[in-house]
Amino acid sequence: DAPSDYCSVTIDDVRKLIKPRRKFSHKGLYGHALLLCGGYGKMGAAVLAARACLRSGVGLLTMQVPSSGYTILQTAVPEAMTLTDNNRKHISELPENMDNYSVVGLGPGMGKEKVTKTAIGQLLATCTLPMVIDADAINIIASSDKLKAQLPKNRIIFTPHPKEFERLVGASKNNYDRLQDMKEFCREYSCYICLKGSHTAICTPEGKVYFNTTGNAGMATGGTGDVLTGVLTALVAQGYSLEEACLLGVYLHGLAGDLALQKVGETGMIASDLTDHLPQAFMTLT
Ligand code: APR
Ligand code: MG
Repeated sequence: DAPSDYCSVTIDDVRKLIKPRRKFSHKGLYGHALLLCGGYGKMGAAVLAARACLRSGVGLLTMQVPSSGYTILQTAVPEAMTLTDNNRKHISELPENMDNYSVVGLGPGMGKEKVTKTAIGQLLATCTLPMVIDADAINIIASSDKLKAQLPKNRIIFTPHPKEFERLVGASKNNYDRLQDMKEFCREYSCYICLKGSHTAICTPEGKVYFNTTGNAGMATGGTGDVLTGVLTALVAQGYSLEEACLLGVYLHGLAGDLALQKVGETGMIASDLTDHLPQAFMTLT
């Protein structure tokens, strides 16, 4: 590959991308995000993604959660509207009306039940919105050639950690081959991948790879990936292109971790520290 296929993302790169909020604006201008997240015993993933989405500037947020998660969501995140699934423990359906939303984020905490797989099949078959796909939603798609064949072009950001990546794209011989495999997959499906790690690699449908430069080992703790799903979903809702959302969102997520590091250090850091520091991360860039 050409050396220009690879580059690292600096603060100047992302600063240019920020869209300032206009004085005479209203929430309608910042998009309406829909997040399909959570499952019985994993509502924390939905809470983290919701808080991150709201802390990243979305105009409105609707959460679709299993019915047992209703009170949890409404209590933990009063700013989010909450739709309840007919299923008590798992997401099994889509909202009746999808017309109001600007983007769908899905995956954190949702599990791999058959009913959830059916709902994802319905989403891929009918939904024309951009999508941020993480966690078990990746695992579900990875396990089904039929779902893979239904993936819409130029509308998806996948955010796998290395295990999820391997399920989706396949096992690679070494780290270099993994980058080649990632490029090939993104070209074939015309999608974006944020391959999460200590230097998250962002790949475009053209096969260009960006390496993120923020973040720290304190972020190696449960739930930090769910925060990224919320951030990316919020940025797409606000009209950032998928590429801009990946570059800016991954950078801000790591920067929130670096700002949290100053307060709590590495060992004591938890995912909520990231959502708490997202506002300061945005302030650093504006
Ligand atoms: N340095 C910098 N960043 C890091 C580091 C590190 N050493 N370790 C982890 N991170 C960042 C990653 O880049 C990523 O953004 O933390 C995030 C971790 O995301 P996930 O691996 O998705 O972890 P998690 O949020 O716990 O996932 C929750 O969903 O993906 C499923 O099965 C998974 O149970 C897990 C759940
Ligand atoms: Mg995860």
